[in-house]
Amino acid sequence: MKKIILCVLLASITLFAEDSATNYKSGLLLPPNGPAIYKQECASCHGEQGEKSAFKQAASVGGKISPAIAGMDTDKVAKDLKEYRYGSLDKYGYGALMKSVTADLSWDEIDSVAKYVNDLK
Ligand code: HEC
Repeated sequence: MKKIILCVLLASITLFAEDSATNYKSGLLLPPNGPAIYKQECASCHGEQGEKSAFKQAASVGGKISPAIAGMDTDKVAKDLKEYRYGSLDKYGYGALMKSVTADLSWDEIDSVAKYVNDLK
């Protein structure tokens, strides 16, 4: 009987640990997870591999488009994201969009996701 209780306990601890590893926002004491943040917060616009230009439509109506971000320099991406978060960067007319995307990220999370963007190639 004790063994069964122990097994159930271990299983639930494992489940809980897995859950908090994928949900980075509730894992305040966990190290920031760049790949998870990227998947959840960035891939929809920049592509799973950072290969997409974020706003193609803007080009078709004469606006500038943002280039693919895969492999961009880590420090540059981190600096850009912090400036977007602060609201002081607007490269192609969509700075406000990137401000709302980065608003919930901590500096550590930004550094971690920037490193991941650099790793994408
Ligand atoms: C809703 C769509 C959207 C999401 C989600 C998004 N971005 Fe962006 N991103 C854009 C747009 C649009 C721009 C161009 C902003 C501007 O005008 O300066 C941009 C710009 C950037 C740039 C600057 C590119 C350059 O040319 O220097 C970087 C780096 C970047 N995004 C990284 C990220 C990262 C990392 C995430 C996830 C934390 C993310 N973005 C999430 C749409 C998005």
